[in-house]
Amino acid sequence: MTDLPTALGASPDVPAGPIDPAVEAALASSAVARAEALLEFARIPSVSALPEHAEDMVRAAEWVAERLRRVGATDVAVERTALHPIVYGRIHEAPGAPTALVYCHYDVQPVDPVELWETAPWEPFLRDGRFVGRGVADDKGQLVMHLSALEALRTAGRAPAVNLTFVFEGEEEYGSQSLYAWIEANRDRLEADVAIISDTCYFEGNVPAITVGLRGIMYAQIDVELSPVDLHSGMYGGSVENPANALARIITALKGPDGRIRIPGFYDDVVAPTDAEREAMAALPFDDEAYRAEIPVPALVGEAGWTTLERKTARPTLDVNGMWSGFQGEGAKTIIPAHAHAKISTRLVANQDPATVYAALRDYVAEIAPPGVTVSTTYIHGGEPSLTPIDHPATQAAARAIEAVHGVAPVYIREGGSIPVTAAFDHSLGLPVVLLGFTQPTCNAHAPNETFLLENFELGTRVIVRFWDELATLPR
Ligand code: BES
Ligand code: MN
Ligand code: MN
Repeated sequence: MTDLPTALGASPDVPAGPIDPAVEAALASSAVARAEALLEFARIPSVSALPEHAEDMVRAAEWVAERLRRVGATDVAVERTALHPIVYGRIHEAPGAPTALVYCHYDVQPVDPVELWETAPWEPFLRDGRFVGRGVADDKGQLVMHLSALEALRTAGRAPAVNLTFVFEGEEEYGSQSLYAWIEANRDRLEADVAIISDTCYFEGNVPAITVGLRGIMYAQIDVELSPVDLHSGMYGGSVENPANALARIITALKGPDGRIRIPGFYDDVVAPTDAEREAMAALPFDDEAYRAEIPVPALVGEAGWTTLERKTARPTLDVNGMWSGFQGEGAKTIIPAHAHAKISTRLVANQDPATVYAALRDYVAEIAPPGVTVSTTYIHGGEPSLTPIDHPATQAAARAIEAVHGVAPVYIREGGSIPVTAAFDHSLGLPVVLLGFTQPTCNAHAPNETFLLENFELGTRVIVRFWDELATLPR
């Protein structure tokens, strides 16, 4: 068991002054309880992708709902969907002030390969200034920071200076498919002036940042079928197509060695960053070699004509996420596999559309599919890319909150990852979206040994407190 008071003994110094002193006092005295809340939450294995965790998903949703009730939220509900529940709640105690829709997700990624974890993924702890465990960064830590900010405001005898409506999702890591219909069906409960999403990182080197661009995604599977069962490769080899070889040829045709995607029409809707955007990106403190060595990989590669930072945030990609076929045990087995499969995803940038990109992939795969096997393509999920204007007053309010707490102005960055709900808030609800996230970029999200720095947890919670005060001053 982690001894929390001792672990917190080395806790970071927080600068005096950026937030209401009564709220600061409440945060200072609740440090152990806040850390314990994150550890308790992270012990619930809420893996949205795996059916065996369905009950854990409900438990995690109930945990969030209970915490919302505790901070005085009204209309708290664990809303059933076709898959995992959505947690809804509101604190509307600031008549005349703007309303913010606050979004985080309580689901997490699977923990495999579990043997690469140095400690058990579902036994999170705080040590040496960092939380370790699945979900502590993505995204449970950030959800707990919002709850903590609210609790500290209450302890200080205050309510948030803006009206807050909470939407905490359980399918973000699985494509958010239930959320779209739920948003459409609940538009009147989601009326707001701005959406705040806390699910992003600071910039390389842990530089405070506001994310203004996210990539979209289109995720699909390609299946190649030959025969009902594996065939003897001596008896049949040479007379039938091999589905694994066929799949390899298909995959090779999708992307060239120059990093260009070869699906006809794939780039048609891509909006290139402007010269000014490229200059701003080039001015960010990004060091290719440090980035390479940190991962670490033997070399960085990518599409010709673009910098590493552009390739990983502002350009679309296509990657095989998994493939399987045939014999995978030790030693040798002489067969022609009955079938072969690949999971393929593309990261999309403005103004690419997942449905259009899927149709282009499907048609191209059908066109190049070799004879002798049956090839099919299936859509798994998709989400649109997003771009937020830097000069939006809510973004600028977030920038002031970060600067007040961290003592430096944030940099504005694009991220290569995807948060599908961003585009839904923007396009369906017409809301400007502020991506105000707090994890360090080296947090091992989705990987073994996920971590969240206590310093980011503490300072970020103060940023949230300050942000509500900054947002309250904006004209509606
Ligand atoms: N928090 C991430 C998105 C993210 C990644 C933001 C990197 C900033 C930097 C989110 O939880 C995530 O992992 N999204 C998935 C979405 C997918 C499953 C539709 C992703 O990007 O793979
Ligand atoms: Mn996330
Ligand atoms: Mn994630």
